[in-house]
Amino acid sequence: MKKTFGIVVLALSTAAFAAPKAQWLTVDNDVLAKIRPKLDKSVQTLFTSQGASVVKLEQREVERLSHLIHEDLHRCGGFIAHDTFEEARDTLAFQGDMYFAKSAIFADYAIDQQNAVKPMVAEVSDANILNTINKLSEYNTRYYKSDTGVKSSEFIRDTWAGLAKSRNDIKVELVTHRAFPQSSVIMTIQGTDKSDEIVILGGHADSIAGMFGGSGRAPGSDDNASGIATITEVIRILMNNNFKPRRTVAFMGYAAEEAGLLGSKEIAANWKAAGKKVVGVVQFDMTLRKGTADKDIVFMSDFTNAAQNEFLGKLVDEYVKVAWGYSKCGYGCSDHASWTNNGYPASIPFESTMEDINHNIHTARDTVENAGGDAKHAAKFAKLGVSFIGELAN
Ligand code: BES
Ligand code: ZN
Repeated sequence: MKKTFGIVVLALSTAAFAAPKAQWLTVDNDVLAKIRPKLDKSVQTLFTSQGASVVKLEQREVERLSHLIHEDLHRCGGFIAHDTFEEARDTLAFQGDMYFAKSAIFADYAIDQQNAVKPMVAEVSDANILNTINKLSEYNTRYYKSDTGVKSSEFIRDTWAGLAKSRNDIKVELVTHRAFPQSSVIMTIQGTDKSDEIVILGGHADSIAGMFGGSGRAPGSDDNASGIATITEVIRILMNNNFKPRRTVAFMGYAAEEAGLLGSKEIAANWKAAGKKVVGVVQFDMTLRKGTADKDIVFMSDFTNAAQNEFLGKLVDEYVKVAWGYSKCGYGCSDHASWTNNGYPASIPFESTMEDINHNIHTARDTVENAGGDAKHAAKFAKLGVSFIGELAN
């Protein structure tokens, strides 16, 4: 049986008088290197794969380790306890970074910022979101190889920079990609006292029509002008409230998602190589059309972090007060998968279940009119976005 360390600690208190028992931990190599000097010399690395290792510890050592990671590294999780060596080894061999991204706990998910968050949530305007969706949809296509695809990313950069213009702790930049002309956009709010820890809210900037994109009309109003417009409304409200987070916050508009997550794949791999500490990622990809009668916000449970999904569900209950549930993409269906594949905790709150998806996406028919005609559904996601940043970044 696999256990997160939270469960291990609970189990320890009830088994305090039992004989010493061994546990096999799968632990990130970065974390292992830092805690190595504090472990008993007899602790050996038994197996290494995909950036993580298996070590054998006595159960009481596991508790000490959990404490060490909290106190010294100022992070949660970073390891998972297993009852057998075989289980630990197979976990790494088969899933590696992905396993960590899905199962480890990366942050303290307390919800305690109501005084700051509630008034900001109340400022969400569906009219603003609709306005941004319409502007993005006016580009003939936002296809990643097209001239209008390049221009639309510059428009996102300019819009976000305009909202942040009175702040000197914020930068908005284009991230160029070697292999194609469209750039990604990143807006960064420097954290005040935990600036090395980063919270990300992103969505893809590109659109596509048909399998080969080309120059055909691709308004992409739902997929994914809606996600970018939802993020833009979150930014507007945070700026309006002169929001200064303790952790660094990054807003991202990824290029070339429709061509195989190209922009996000490059960014996530670069951030991992640079050793950046990302404590949470949320992806907004399609927020416009309410497709499922009894659910407003649907969390895809695959290629995502389970603990963070649960935290987001609690944020919906606390601040958005709409019905939510789970579904599955069945594959790495959007940019959250790029973060998951690189070992980071990501979630995708989606507009419907997979069964009820918008069949007009990737065609000239992906318009506001064909997705309900207003941005009231998207406004729920903007409220969640404000809550996510307001709670996790503070
Ligand atoms: N917005 C879609 C993802 C999506 C569609 C999620 C329907 C859930 C339901 C995204 O832009 C997309 O089209 N992704 C591609 C995969 C990607 C790796 C090219 C897809 O789903 O085909
Ligand atoms: Zn798509």
